[in-house]
Amino acid sequence: MKVRRLGNSELEVSSIGLGLMGMSPGIYGQTNDEESIRTIHSAMELGVTLLDTADVYGNGHNESLLGKALQGKRDKAIVATKFAYTTNYEKIVGHPDYIQKAVDDSLRRLNIDYIDLYYQHRVDPNVPIEETIGAMSDLVTAGKVRAIGLSEASVDTIKRAHNIHPISALQTEYSLWSRDIEEEILPVVRYLGITHVAYSPLSRGFITGEISNFKDFGDDDLRRFMPRFQGENFQKNLDIVSEIQNMAKEKNVTPSQLAIAWTIANGALPIPGTKRQKYLEENVGALEVELTPQDLVRLDSINPKNTVYGNRYDDNNMKDLSL
Ligand SMILES: NC(=O)c1ccc[n+]([C@@H]2O[C@H](COP(=O)([O-])OP(=O)(O)OC[C@H]3O[C@@H](n4cnc5c(N)ncnc54)[C@H](OP(=O)(O)O)[C@@H]3O)[C@@H](O)[C@H]2O)c1
Repeated sequence: MKVRRLGNSELEVSSIGLGLMGMSPGIYGQTNDEESIRTIHSAMELGVTLLDTADVYGNGHNESLLGKALQGKRDKAIVATKFAYTTNYEKIVGHPDYIQKAVDDSLRRLNIDYIDLYYQHRVDPNVPIEETIGAMSDLVTAGKVRAIGLSEASVDTIKRAHNIHPISALQTEYSLWSRDIEEEILPVVRYLGITHVAYSPLSRGFITGEISNFKDFGDDDLRRFMPRFQGENFQKNLDIVSEIQNMAKEKNVTPSQLAIAWTIANGALPIPGTKRQKYLEENVGALEVELTPQDLVRLDSINPKNTVYGNRYDDNNMKDLSL
């Protein structure tokens, strides 16, 4: 397994991670804890160390699931989790006293002594970032956390945060479908030596070509509520997918592998999410995909100006990005 350093920290992580969010109910369809744990174990056996969860995924279920999977295998994992959203995504909180409790709750559910990478899931506009990062820095000093990260933060927040304590990772949505951070955020992240962790690198499964109809989403599937998957947008966006499918076929790889390889070629550490061993193995295969300069030009032309139809979140959630 290819490895890389996480930001300026001392942590070494696999060049591809595993996103666990979809292993909790109410996200991407039905789940099965036994199958999910088998998938986490397979990931570790393949050398995928970076396991990404959050306290709010399944309101604690996701962390508890990872806690079970980690029993006897803690040393094979780089555990990344997040705080800030309260139960059911009701509020975003960045107060130091909230963080103190959140970290202890996460450690208890994960059943471990320390978290390798602790992210603020979203920035709290009512708390200066210096206060939040100061509290996260105290957790590093206390040995509860090894490195800290931000998710979907603005350039200004990243710079101010990095002045208080080195930020090791910035997690943002990034895929052939979501390239809005390329202009302003990525240059700063690269300059500061922060690892860019790409979430939803398969655009929540859409890029794989497995989803061809809105009806493929069950009643409790959160993609139903995302503008990109709704109404006319869904059909128009399928055209972009078909271009990725054509190119993948020509290169004798799968669309998922092509999409993930593209994020890696752009410097990211992708964390594709799946609850299935089959998809996990396929996705890890992206590390072997070689993209020529011509391939990159062609991929670049698929969605050069971020012309996907519809926002990636509904209006309520869009306002919490880039704060
Ligand atoms: N920081 C944040 O705000 C934030 C937001 C969203 C996600 N994340 C993190 O990023 C991780 C990854 O993102 P994501 O799960 O939203 O989206 P994703 O990785 O783009 O896509 C996940 C979806 O793609 C499907 N899939 C995966 N590999 C496939 C393959 N080879 N062929 C066909 N389908 C495949 C999965 O199916 P199955 O469900 O059937 O396995 C799942 O429905 C999450 O698990 C989470 O840890 C962070």
